[in-house]
Amino acid sequence: MDWSKLKEAAASRPSIMELFDTPGRAQDFSVRVGEMLFDYSKTHISPESRALLLEMAEQAGVAAKRDAMFSGAEINETEGRAVLHTLLRAESCPDGVDQAAFDGVRVVLEDMERFARDVRSGAYQGQGGAITDVINIGIGGSDLGPKMATIALAPFHDGPRVHFVSNVDGADIADTLAPLDPSTTLVIVASKTFTTIETMTNARTAFDWMKGSVSDPAAQFAAVSTAEDKTGDFGIAPERVFGFEDWVGGRYSVWGPIGLPLMLAVGPERFRDFLAGGAAMDRHFREADLAENMPVLLALVGLWHNQGCGHATRAVLPYDNRLSRLPAYLQQLEMESNGKSVAMDGSALEVNSGPVVWGEPGTNGQHAFYQLIHQGTRVIPCEFLVAARGHESDLSHHHELLVANCLAQSEALMVGRSIDEARRLMDGKFKGDELERQARHRVFAGDRPSTTLIYPTLGARELGMIIALYEHRVFVEGVMLGINSFDQWGVELGKELANALTPLVRGEGDVSGKDGSTRGLLDYVLQSK
Ligand code: F6P
Repeated sequence: MDWSKLKEAAASRPSIMELFDTPGRAQDFSVRVGEMLFDYSKTHISPESRALLLEMAEQAGVAAKRDAMFSGAEINETEGRAVLHTLLRAESCPDGVDQAAFDGVRVVLEDMERFARDVRSGAYQGQGGAITDVINIGIGGSDLGPKMATIALAPFHDGPRVHFVSNVDGADIADTLAPLDPSTTLVIVASKTFTTIETMTNARTAFDWMKGSVSDPAAQFAAVSTAEDKTGDFGIAPERVFGFEDWVGGRYSVWGPIGLPLMLAVGPERFRDFLAGGAAMDRHFREADLAENMPVLLALVGLWHNQGCGHATRAVLPYDNRLSRLPAYLQQLEMESNGKSVAMDGSALEVNSGPVVWGEPGTNGQHAFYQLIHQGTRVIPCEFLVAARGHESDLSHHHELLVANCLAQSEALMVGRSIDEARRLMDGKFKGDELERQARHRVFAGDRPSTTLIYPTLGARELGMIIALYEHRVFVEGVMLGINSFDQWGVELGKELANALTPLVRGEGDVSGKDGSTRGLLDYVLQSK
């Protein structure tokens, strides 16, 4: 892929306001899927640079690679696996996919639904009666997706309370267990591999806690994993083990059994709505022309900003408090997928890998880090998300303020405030050099890019659409960068070293092979015990 033309186009970009001189820009640089609208008009992408980006997408074979993914080809070449998380939400068996795989997904979904109904109705009970609380123990993809989605769909919670424990820091599980009654608690151990040290440590701690007051603790445990043999070793009965295949990547797994806590919280019907939203975005991604394709356009905006303009981070700013965990979820989805320096063929990447993704809900972020976004020296492309309507109809004045703030931020970023305006603002308060000095502090450069994703209200279907949209964005960016978005070798070294360090932290073993800094830190820990 020749990135030089993109960099040239980015280097000579007109201002965003100049681009709005062309009538109809807002419509031309927006795309809809159902009622969801993605507006990327407040970026520096001109019709010409969009044409270039689309040509690059064609050259990279995005359409063919997309079709290969949906049909179950082994596109995760470094792990020798297909990438079929889309099958978890598919409404019919896609061409090329083994019917048995599709049927298997349906069977597990129905098993989950049966279990969820039993828990929610009280047909399945703990020793002390109906289940009041569920603890999901998992980390990374086995935590971030279900936690993000469970918080997002809070208005629909009508099941047991759901808690999430992920960190190996004992504080996480201790604080979670403290107020709970073991006799009415269900623990889900969620781990694709069922070997992850954090999850297995937390699971054993939860088991011991339950053993303290429940005669058959294993009866109040369920498991979600691809390693069903290991769940048996833990003592969890097969009827409460929900399996999935290795063609579901951890960070893409919320659609299957890893989504069990969400299903317990909102019920099987809403969970199906969530799947339907994902399937609707899949259909659009597969069928729409690249130029009208929301995930493709979102990816092209990302590549334009990062690989074209050189903006190293992007902020995800949901004006939707219930999407508070979306930035964290997207950090794994995007950074674990596209944070690679090596192309699929083993060669070094020619351009920067995926960007740093970060963010917080609005309006909170406005009172924290937006100062830097508006007036800092680096440009941070912003991705706003907002619902036209909130769930709290009696608090619609709150929602009006929320929406106004969201729109105001993208407008302020684009329009800015000139030195003349700043002078006018300060005139009368200051004079001469002091007026000039004070005015300069009040200048907003403007011409800072943002996109807005807007939808009627955040329901299960909309959430499914949003998550599938971002998944496909990551896929398209990965294809165009030429990398494998579906492995994560970069997390392995730290895990290996942590295993080797654990005995040293206990004071056992020889530290002489360690570097001076690590030895010093170990020394500090051991002396403080
Ligand atoms: O941190 C690496 C990783 O493998 C993630 O990709 C994954 O989501 C997480 O660990 C948890 O893995 P598991 O579900 O196997 O416990």
